[in-house]
Amino acid sequence: MKITSKQLRESWLRFYEGKGHVNVGAVSLIGDGTTGVMFNVAGMQPLMPYLLGKPHPLGKRLCNVQGCVRTVDIESVGDASHFTFFEMMGNWSLGDYFKKEKTAWTFEILTKVYGLEKDKLCSTVFEGNDAAPRDEETAGFLKALGIAPEHIFYLPKSDNWWELEGTVGTPCGPDNEWFYPIDPENPAPRFPEDYVEIGNDVYMQYRKTEEGYVPLENKNVDTGFGLDRMLLFLNGLHDGYQTDLFAGAISALERISGKAYDADEGARKAMRIIADHTRTTVMLIGDVNGILPSNTGAGYILRRLMRRAIRYCRQLAVEPASTMSAVAEVFIDDVYGEAYPLLTEKKAYILDEIKKEAERFEAMLEKGMAEFEKCVAGIARKNAFMAQKDASYVPETIIGGKQAFRLYDTYGFPLELTEEMAAERGLAVDKEGFDAAFKEHQEKSRGDVHAGEAKGGLESHSAQAVKYHTATHLLNAALKQVLSPDVNQKGSNITDERMRFDFNFPRAMTPEEVQAVEALVNEKIKEDIPVVYKEMSLDEARAEHFVGVFDSKYGDVVKTYSIGEFSKEMCGGPHVAHTGELGHFKIVKEQSSSAGVRRIKAILE
Ligand code: ALA
Repeated sequence: MKITSKQLRESWLRFYEGKGHVNVGAVSLIGDGTTGVMFNVAGMQPLMPYLLGKPHPLGKRLCNVQGCVRTVDIESVGDASHFTFFEMMGNWSLGDYFKKEKTAWTFEILTKVYGLEKDKLCSTVFEGNDAAPRDEETAGFLKALGIAPEHIFYLPKSDNWWELEGTVGTPCGPDNEWFYPIDPENPAPRFPEDYVEIGNDVYMQYRKTEEGYVPLENKNVDTGFGLDRMLLFLNGLHDGYQTDLFAGAISALERISGKAYDADEGARKAMRIIADHTRTTVMLIGDVNGILPSNTGAGYILRRLMRRAIRYCRQLAVEPASTMSAVAEVFIDDVYGEAYPLLTEKKAYILDEIKKEAERFEAMLEKGMAEFEKCVAGIARKNAFMAQKDASYVPETIIGGKQAFRLYDTYGFPLELTEEMAAERGLAVDKEGFDAAFKEHQEKSRGDVHAGEAKGGLESHSAQAVKYHTATHLLNAALKQVLSPDVNQKGSNITDERMRFDFNFPRAMTPEEVQAVEALVNEKIKEDIPVVYKEMSLDEARAEHFVGVFDSKYGDVVKTYSIGEFSKEMCGGPHVAHTGELGHFKIVKEQSSSAGVRRIKAILE
């Protein structure tokens, strides 16, 4: 290795600190909701208010190394250069220095610190349009630094303009991108095909609005150089999985599988996918605002990543839970623990959650794969049969939406996973049909919940039924905590004597789990927590993570009940005033209710 990831991180920060920048450190990978972007996709994202003009407490010159998660290319991971997590080395001028200093410093760090040859560098600048002028200014500074005019290219907005996609109100502007020959020994590299982009300096002088680009008062600089890419390139490597960031994970996979990374294309692809997705999983679960796999939002993306990795573990013939946690351990102990101390602190939790998700999905994967094979075989049979009868018959190449939904709902296959498996067989999936089946199911289960509640004491409102109703909230929260955040109420039925509670969960609970749930509910009863009623908008309820059915039929204002931070549900009530009124909670039975749904019967004594 000519340079390690640690040296690269450090050298970047030291260089910019030497130019008067303060290292602001990295922030959470989980988007803060202000831009509608689910994850942090660029170093500038957390700095947006300051790029728009708010004074930053640490000054006008900032730098850091910020983790980013970009998942639009999940399906491309498996090749040599796609990753879902990467670190961006950045620095910023908040209305301080501008193009002259920035071009000089980027040039200096590339040529003096990283030893790139001036004559091999290429640079691209914005060619101009109605919104902003041709960037002759930057080109002039580049030439003054000694970059040959024939190595400077003027490109349109699609290449040399940087903004967060799909958002307005955000800072943006023309950028200056830096390139180097993929093979530095190539005597006559052609641009762009023989070059790799190593980073860019964005001159953020505009704010993107619905109407167009409005000049900002401050002329800012936003620099981003990908650490993973730089590491690869500075070490003369061509496979991103050979850098020190991945070497440990790959050798762990070689050891566990007994196969060499280079044995064949299949093994290599599986190892890359398992390594990349496990790394992102570690980062997302171990984040300050850590998330867990679930069926919505960012949690769903995490689940997709994890389940894709689990599937490739099977392809590699290794046991998913232990393999992924071994790989996660390498990332935490040997690669990222020092730069991200929280990962070390949360290590046991991260490994445990990885194991849980792997076991959860493993339990269904085999049956789901068999189901998938049945769909494929059914299509092939039909095609063969029809082709015999009718020579002009066009073969069917689409897996039905209902079948894809069954794979999702019963076997936990994210739609995208089914699509990827289908594509490997030359098939597609009827997505609209999937959406329709999804919706139909949602409406049906919503109906079940309400029917259950209506029957279950909400009409009779006896004092005992009210207690049982509050107990269902405690139970719901306890199940989520003990079993999985994905557990959701599927129905309930209450009489004066007992409660019944249905929830989604793929297997029987163990006696230990039953005990833990019971104990947790009783603990919350003992704490005698006030049950607090509040009306709020649906958006507020969503933002505050209330559970329940988010649906317009609740109207704009919803009724919510919270029991401390432990339980937050949208619900019409009524409830007791304090949990202490419930007495002692006891689970008398845990049994299957229907496919994927469990039923608990419990009493208050
Ligand atoms: N914001 C720029 C990028 O993400 C630096 O590439």
